[in-house]
Amino acid sequence: MIVPFLDLKKQTSSIRYEIDMAVKRVIDSASFIQGKEVVELEDKFSKLVGVPYTVSVGNGTDALFIALKSLGIGQGDEVITAANSFIATSEAITATGAKVVFADVCPDSYNINPDDVERKISNKTKVLVPVHLYGQMAEMDRVLKIAEDNKLFVVEDAAQAHLSRYKGRNGAWKNAGSFGNMAIFSFYPGKNLGAFGDAGAIVTDDIELANKAKMFANHGRLSKFKHEFEGFNSRMDSIQAAVLNVKINYLSQWNEERKQVALKYFDCLKNVVEIKLPKVNENCDPVWHLFVIQAEKRNELQSFLKNSGISTGIHYPVALPNLPAYKYLKHKPGDFPVASLLATQILSLPLFPEMTNQQIEYVCSNIKKFYTEVV
Ligand SMILES: Cc1ncc(COP(=O)(O)O)c(C=O)c1O
Repeated sequence: MIVPFLDLKKQTSSIRYEIDMAVKRVIDSASFIQGKEVVELEDKFSKLVGVPYTVSVGNGTDALFIALKSLGIGQGDEVITAANSFIATSEAITATGAKVVFADVCPDSYNINPDDVERKISNKTKVLVPVHLYGQMAEMDRVLKIAEDNKLFVVEDAAQAHLSRYKGRNGAWKNAGSFGNMAIFSFYPGKNLGAFGDAGAIVTDDIELANKAKMFANHGRLSKFKHEFEGFNSRMDSIQAAVLNVKINYLSQWNEERKQVALKYFDCLKNVVEIKLPKVNENCDPVWHLFVIQAEKRNELQSFLKNSGISTGIHYPVALPNLPAYKYLKHKPGDFPVASLLATQILSLPLFPEMTNQQIEYVCSNIKKFYTEVV
């Protein structure tokens, strides 16, 4: 049996006719950049997330860069983010001219550790960027309190967390993206809501920030040649928006199917003592972008699964502060003990909405086989 890490072909084939018609409409209209599909998507996405404003942009990395620029972040500022994320998070911070400051993560939730965030705050800190990693939200009550106490902005990196929910201290469940001053999403094809190319969005409840971001993403203008400031070109293509307008209607269903796969993994793997299953915090309702276990003999397990036709991933094999790209920050080994250890143990199992019971069982039986018969 072959178990891919995700199966985008299967997903597309289930909605192929709708997609073809949507793309055809854009081609017929010849309105390829920021057409009416883009406006429709921004409206739908705002309603879905539960925020008043969505600004569509070229990709998630740009979204974070533009959000930070809209908050006035630049040289001399510091921005704190998680040591375990995709480099896009820290890259976007550095691109503004600000200094990226890493905080370690929690061993169970894999998300940013609020205690370490507190330790890393300086008089230059301006923004906290919690990453809702693998589809589970960071500890937002703590993050927001720290931000409030220290007068900092919060920009959520929700690239992996479309419709992930968190129950705040007031008992209300709210979606990822509706907690910070601003939040960013990626619509990279493999994300829970993915386009047919690069695309991203910024959401906010602040009209001024929304306008600034919208202008920044379009050469600093709102109308054709009235450039108020120098911005950037990061606009969403109408074809990407048309695809997303179809796929957005299936997001809740696909997230539910992802959850069912996760529940089966929990059940099937609960007695395998050599692995640690992901922990769901009680105030979180994750959307299972990834199902990440911690495994003894991780590399050997990954090779064994590969030889059995099962694709897995490592997100991420090197903690951000330990990458050559951040050598200039002069971190010592041991500065980020949790993120550094996790990088040697984590393994992302295949998980996608269309995954069959046989595929899940095949993955689980091979993990069990590895620990009983191979090592
Ligand atoms: C946590 C995180 N932040 C930001 C990004 C950047 O998104 P994009 O690939 O759309 O630029 C990604 C994408 O992989 C991500 O996983």
